[in-house]
Amino acid sequence: MRLTPRWRKTVLTLHVITSVGWLGADLTLLLLGLLGLTGAADPAVVYPAEALIGLWLFVPLSVVVWVIGLVSALATPWGLVRHWWVLVKFALTTVMLGLVLFLLRPGLADALEADGVRTAHERLDMVMPPAVSSTVLIIATVLSTFKPWGRRQVSRARSRVVEGHAQPPKGALPCPPQGTS
Ligand code: HEM
Repeated sequence: MRLTPRWRKTVLTLHVITSVGWLGADLTLLLLGLLGLTGAADPAVVYPAEALIGLWLFVPLSVVVWVIGLVSALATPWGLVRHWWVLVKFALTTVMLGLVLFLLRPGLADALEADGVRTAHERLDMVMPPAVSSTVLIIATVLSTFKPWGRRQVSRARSRVVEGHAQPPKGALPCPPQGTS
């Protein structure tokens, strides 16, 4: 499946909006967690806010980013497993989605019901996950713009076989851009 240039730009726009929005939501969770941990803000306000933003913005965005990321890879010449930067990003995002759905989501739901987190351990639990995931998402953003490491060997060999036969789609965006494969 290949997208027309207009659809490709539409999907890319959605991908950038949702993924960078995901990072923004994550940094907000981190800020709220730090405010709660250091006592700089009222825990009765900070933790329910963190839980609500997490449950209603961060968790849904995790699924949306994964799906649109997958479409961005599969429906463009980048492919899912052709380039290291795409494959690594996919692996990072998939692991993160699993952690978000199976660890973070239940924790946030508990925090909301607890009406404010109490113990020092629980407060740290509201900081560490967004600290780790923000770092992962910053890495994903850097991978997206620098597109390092080129093509995977298997993919390079396969493209040598078909070299000269494959035609780029009419009016396609330059992809992969020169110097990245
Ligand atoms: C399932 C995971 C992901 C996959 C498979 C994926 C794949 C891709 C692909 C193939 C492109 C190029 C699309 C095109 O040129 O039409 C792209 C662009 C981009 N991705 Fe992702 N992505 C994923 C997750 C993420 C995440 C988590 C972030 C950041 C938090 C991110 C940020 C970006 C950005 C900023 C671009 C635009 C880069 C540019 O146009 O130079 N992606 N992604």
